[in-house]
Amino acid sequence: MAEVRNNGQFCDRADKTCSGEALKDPKMDQQELSASLFGSHAANYLTSPTHATGADLERLSALARTLAPARALDVGCGAGHASFALARGGVPRVIACDPSAEMLAAGQRSAPTATFVEGRVEQLPFADNSFDAATVAQSFHWFVADLAFAELMRVVKPGGSIAVWWKVLGSDDPMRAVRKAACAKAGVTDTKDPMQGGFNAFYRAPFATRALRVLPFTGRFTVMDWIGYERSRATARDAFGAKHDAYIAALYEELLAKFGSPQAKISVRYTQYLYVGNIAKA
Ligand SMILES: C[S@@+](CC[C@H](N)C(=O)[O-])C[C@H]1O[C@@H](n2cnc3c(N)ncnc32)[C@H](O)[C@@H]1O
Repeated sequence: MAEVRNNGQFCDRADKTCSGEALKDPKMDQQELSASLFGSHAANYLTSPTHATGADLERLSALARTLAPARALDVGCGAGHASFALARGGVPRVIACDPSAEMLAAGQRSAPTATFVEGRVEQLPFADNSFDAATVAQSFHWFVADLAFAELMRVVKPGGSIAVWWKVLGSDDPMRAVRKAACAKAGVTDTKDPMQGGFNAFYRAPFATRALRVLPFTGRFTVMDWIGYERSRATARDAFGAKHDAYIAALYEELLAKFGSPQAKISVRYTQYLYVGNIAKA
């Protein structure tokens, strides 16, 4: 496959449409916004144990060992945690793609063997049938869903798989009450779980077979780890705007009152939703 650079971007699409021009889609403004929302917090993503560790990433490495794709794409890669898990699982070529240059730079530090490429899922800068598998970790809520699946299915080969997942706090995990109290103090309304309410685009996409697994797991973090993670949550920064700093300060107070010290260990219970779609063999 030819890999050329176009307008400073990696591009190997036959029609060279990856020149960075705006797509004629009303959601693009939102995507520009999300790129700028994420970029300034790339360091928090890189170092946050809630992003960098977890049963989901261990499962991904194990899955990579089992499926053994020769070339895998990780879209909305952020600081590259899933890209690195694929590489740890023995995938020889991992291409990681994200619109945020800052995230890509952070990712290159965390997953030095992967290749980081600037691009959006709605117009991926890759030729048809370039990959054996693609992953989307905790990013799908930022995508234009149907366009994203059309592009992912274009770049993944017949017989290949696309895995999309995200994790949410357990519905009765105590951290929800802590967040709620911090929101009340800061005068903001708590955010909804991004993918709440279902995921119809996955069922609309023309996969040959599909599977959904719901997997529980518990993370162990310090209070400060959690604060770093909360700072990185673009959904909250977007929703709380100028009151985001007040929210973080209130959250820190709540956590100290509940757990005692910045280094106190806390357990957080998650549910992970893992969707896998398999493309028909040629
Ligand atoms: C919550 S972060 C997840 C990062 C990483 N996958 C992880 O699991 O830690 C979401 C990422 O999606 C990226 N993103 C937002 N809109 C996108 C789009 N339209 N196409 C591709 N990536 C996008 C952001 O730049 C950000 O890095």
